[in-house]
Amino acid sequence: MEAGARRPAVLIARRLLPAGLERLAGECEIREGGLEATAKRLLELAPGVAAIVADPTVPVGEPLLEAAGPQLRVVANFAVGYDNVDLEACRRRGVAVANTPGVLTNATAELALALTLAAARRTSEAELELRSGRWRGWDPGAHLGLELSGATFGIAGMGRIGRRYAELVRSLAGALLYTSRTPKADAEDALGARRVGFDELVRLSDVVSLHLPATPETSGLVGRDELRAMKTHAVLVNSARGPLVDAQALAEALREGEIGAAGLDVYENEPDVPAALLEAPRLVLLPHIGSATTRARDAMARLVADNVLAVLRGEEPPNRVA
Ligand code: 8YV
Repeated sequence: MEAGARRPAVLIARRLLPAGLERLAGECEIREGGLEATAKRLLELAPGVAAIVADPTVPVGEPLLEAAGPQLRVVANFAVGYDNVDLEACRRRGVAVANTPGVLTNATAELALALTLAAARRTSEAELELRSGRWRGWDPGAHLGLELSGATFGIAGMGRIGRRYAELVRSLAGALLYTSRTPKADAEDALGARRVGFDELVRLSDVVSLHLPATPETSGLVGRDELRAMKTHAVLVNSARGPLVDAQALAEALREGEIGAAGLDVYENEPDVPAALLEAPRLVLLPHIGSATTRARDAMARLVADNVLAVLRGEEPPNRVA
């Protein structure tokens, strides 16, 4: 940015942690929507901004881009996923889009592991029993879960997070299966993972963990048929995106004992969680905390700022996706 030039305005649609906000505030005028910002409020704040900082709860499509105006140069998503951003609309307007890959890989894979263990051992319902005063003492037949040592782990999507999850579960796994558009020789050589089709993955795995982006192709990836094809003791974990799993079908599969347990961190219309899920048995539910470690979130915030500032300086952003 030229010395003496007016500071470019940045719309932070919701909230950016200080690690990134301070970098931006040094060079830009900040407009913050806040965690409660409505779509209408964002349209009011957008006119004239050069950058928009969004996150998966903020749809960035024609209305917001149009409201911002022709000086808009970059949309920086505070997330690795960018299914909330209309990439085509951004391309048409010459607006760069960037995300925050890499820095949340460990945090998200670790959360997927936590969900796997919690679902397999039914820790949420056991804790609820204790907290609600219903625990009547040790019972040899209560809360029996699935032992994971020797289990076949099925990993749908062998990108960064899927790969890290594979590394984390390797010491438990009897076998590692994965799906991927292209073979991952490194995961096969280093971890002994075997590439299979999705049908085979759901049929053979004791644990199925999803690590794919939300796209038209992955929407409803796990529906009634896939749940029926799973083993009756199998655990399903979704730390990726809500639309990958048909929530009603999952609730039914748990109720009917078609699968053993499940762990979810993501939902189709967050923060709404379908009543059927809240009522389903053997289900661990978390409020989208996959990347919620201090290290990951600070690094994400810094990357957001780096992406914005690079574009505003006329440089290539470090994490351009469009
Ligand atoms: C974020 C995520 O916590 O990166 C993603 O795609 O879903 C999570 O890491 C969330 O998007 C809030 O920024």
